[in-house]
Amino acid sequence: MKIGPYTLTNNLVLSPMAGITDRPFRQICRELGAGLAVSEMTASNPALRNHRRTLLKLDHSGEDEPRVVQIVGTNPEQLAEAAVFNQKNGAQIIDINMGCPAKKVCNVAAGSALLRDEPLVNNILKAVVSAVDIPVTLKIRTGWDPLNKNAPTIAKIAEQAGIQSLAIHGRTRACKYNGNAEFDTIKSVKKSIKIPVFANGDITTPQRALEVLDYTNADGLLIGRGAQGNPWIFREIAHYLKTGEKLAPPNLDEIRETISRHLAHLHQFYGDTMGVRIARKHIAWYFKQIDQSLLPLVKESFSIQEPQLQLDFMNKIFHTLSKKNNTQHEF
Ligand SMILES: Cc1cc2nc3c(=O)[nH]c(=O)nc-3n(C[C@H](O)[C@H](O)[C@H](O)COP(=O)(O)O)c2cc1C
Repeated sequence: MKIGPYTLTNNLVLSPMAGITDRPFRQICRELGAGLAVSEMTASNPALRNHRRTLLKLDHSGEDEPRVVQIVGTNPEQLAEAAVFNQKNGAQIIDINMGCPAKKVCNVAAGSALLRDEPLVNNILKAVVSAVDIPVTLKIRTGWDPLNKNAPTIAKIAEQAGIQSLAIHGRTRACKYNGNAEFDTIKSVKKSIKIPVFANGDITTPQRALEVLDYTNADGLLIGRGAQGNPWIFREIAHYLKTGEKLAPPNLDEIRETISRHLAHLHQFYGDTMGVRIARKHIAWYFKQIDQSLLPLVKESFSIQEPQLQLDFMNKIFHTLSKKNNTQHEF
């Protein structure tokens, strides 16, 4: 699997998720087998660049290569300038978000709302591709609504504009996250263009990953919510695709060590107060996977404000857990 000059270790990508795919989570997913991990979307508007959260999004130190930064906006010149800015700041691939239905994005007609305006899509893609000398990729939905599934047209526009790979979430903008993702549109787009296509939507198990790849003939997969609390999903899918066998799930020691490392990264990256706060949602996702009966106990930890106390509490929960189950844990 290649994107521009970069050969990826595999075809499994951590899908961009605002508030989630920050540097600490990207690193954990890369270490556990993701071939690529896309940053949270970053606004192209330069006026927003001095916000603390935005500045943190620009921090790629120690991040595995190639580093992908996703940009979002509506104005071709501004998006082109944002691509140049991010390249100077260490991005090695620029991904353009035309797949996110979030209100604050769509109100300004950015994200998936742009799919309605094909000439504007063309202008944006051409402006960004010609502004940088690194690969530019695009993420879209299947269309605006079920009656306007224009992904095949957008895919052609993208290929002609010099986009190097296309990721498609198998829902329309109007579908939000309702129903199941559909893969017929992705299958037909894959047939019609030559650049790599990544299929996306509801892939949460190795078996589903194989089914989607077989059905769509896509070159790779984007995995979003399936990685929340389960970054091991990447190595499990990679192993299954390679061998047809299910990889043994992580044991409790590894789970504890990964969560502690993840939390410590968050504390260090965001600072104590923000780090502890951001860690809470990850803790809840982890324990939703590990043992739902522990969630009331886990919630007690949400009043903790100190990084070390949060880590200590996690160790206490694992102590309780290993007493309950001191053999390997089945996810
Ligand atoms: C909390 C959340 C935040 C998201 N943020 C972004 C984003 O910043 N950019 C983007 O292109 N897609 C974003 N998405 C969409 C995901 O990348 C992905 O396309 C979608 O969740 C479907 O894949 P999944 O079923 O594997 O989660 C977000 C999704 C979620 C759940």
